[in-house]
Amino acid sequence: AELDRFVVLGIGGSYMGARALFEALRHRWHNELPRAARGGVPRLYFEGNNVDNDTLAQLVGMLPGEGEPNATPEDRWGLTVISKSGGTLETSVAFRLFRRTLEGLYGADSDEARKFVVPITGETGRLRELSKSKGYPAVFPIPDGVGGRFSVLTAVGLLPAAVLGLDLRALLAGAADATDDFFSAEPGANPTLDYTAVAHVAEVEHGMHTRILCTWGNRLEALGLWYDQLLAESLGKHEQGALPLTVVNTRDLHSRGQQHQEGRRDKLVTNLVVERPSEDVLTIPEAPAELDQDELNALAGTPLPTVMDAAIRGTNQAYAEDDRPTADFVVPTLDEYAMGQLFQTLMLATVVEGRLVGTNPYGQPGVEAYKTNMNAILGR
Ligand code: PA5
Repeated sequence: AELDRFVVLGIGGSYMGARALFEALRHRWHNELPRAARGGVPRLYFEGNNVDNDTLAQLVGMLPGEGEPNATPEDRWGLTVISKSGGTLETSVAFRLFRRTLEGLYGADSDEARKFVVPITGETGRLRELSKSKGYPAVFPIPDGVGGRFSVLTAVGLLPAAVLGLDLRALLAGAADATDDFFSAEPGANPTLDYTAVAHVAEVEHGMHTRILCTWGNRLEALGLWYDQLLAESLGKHEQGALPLTVVNTRDLHSRGQQHQEGRRDKLVTNLVVERPSEDVLTIPEAPAELDQDELNALAGTPLPTVMDAAIRGTNQAYAEDDRPTADFVVPTLDEYAMGQLFQTLMLATVVEGRLVGTNPYGQPGVEAYKTNMNAILGR
């Protein structure tokens, strides 16, 4: 509550889960709302997931730093740096850049420069050592054995969620209930096992090697990108593993939709449907008859969720009529509980599928090759 802005630095699994929560559960234009409309919640920015000079320079340049010693409350900002290994170059470089700016604002030896930096890292490693040297009062652990892409329900996701004022108990309750369902529900009423079975059979018996997660609406795109990484990094080993692809409909019906309707029969589409909107329902406005050139008066008064429902049903029908199968995940409304369920179900499904195909879903040895080469090229 003391801060106006908060920066999340991380890459891969140490980043996407928090971003998924932000996009799904906060106002789409959160950062542009006045503080009161944000409920006092800081504006949130994500970086450290690349070495893109320009985007880094733009965000660092936007944040108050050296030369602004009389910072007003609106200037106060902080950051979390998330890295399990503590040695990921992209995140480390970003941390150094942002730290310099933050220390310029508060003073390198000030309490604020320590208090407003919250590292989240493994028990050992460079970031852990640096945190000790800097004397940061709050350093949150990433438990041993929990890889980045499986860590969203640790401090990695929970700290940014707390900064955003989200209901952490509901998030964890959703995940816990998904785990209970996984252990107790019969196949046919067990989302984890049902999804795994459908995807596995589609792949091995029908050659559907592309797994499309189709989110209806804009708020779950980052969740889809989190899942893309989860599936690709966990099961894309030994020359195996489906190709994950997130689409946002109806947007992508106007781009990828052509290929999904008439392209190779190598795709399983799984719809991710939210039944009820969170905001007041909009209806299509009526226009004067002389301004009905768009011929929308025939639909005047129709709620937008009804239009979305027609799009979902119409698309599934078109696929079915061409013998292209679809599966559905349905949540009643998008809230912390549903996000906990989705995260946990997709993580469990990935692990179960790993067992099914004989692939260890943990670890990402293939990611090391580029790191070794990049560091050698940089003489590091
Ligand atoms: O899922 C994973 O394990 C990876 O995507 C890592 O999160 C990513 O490579 C970043 O690693 P680290 O958290 O060690 O900085």
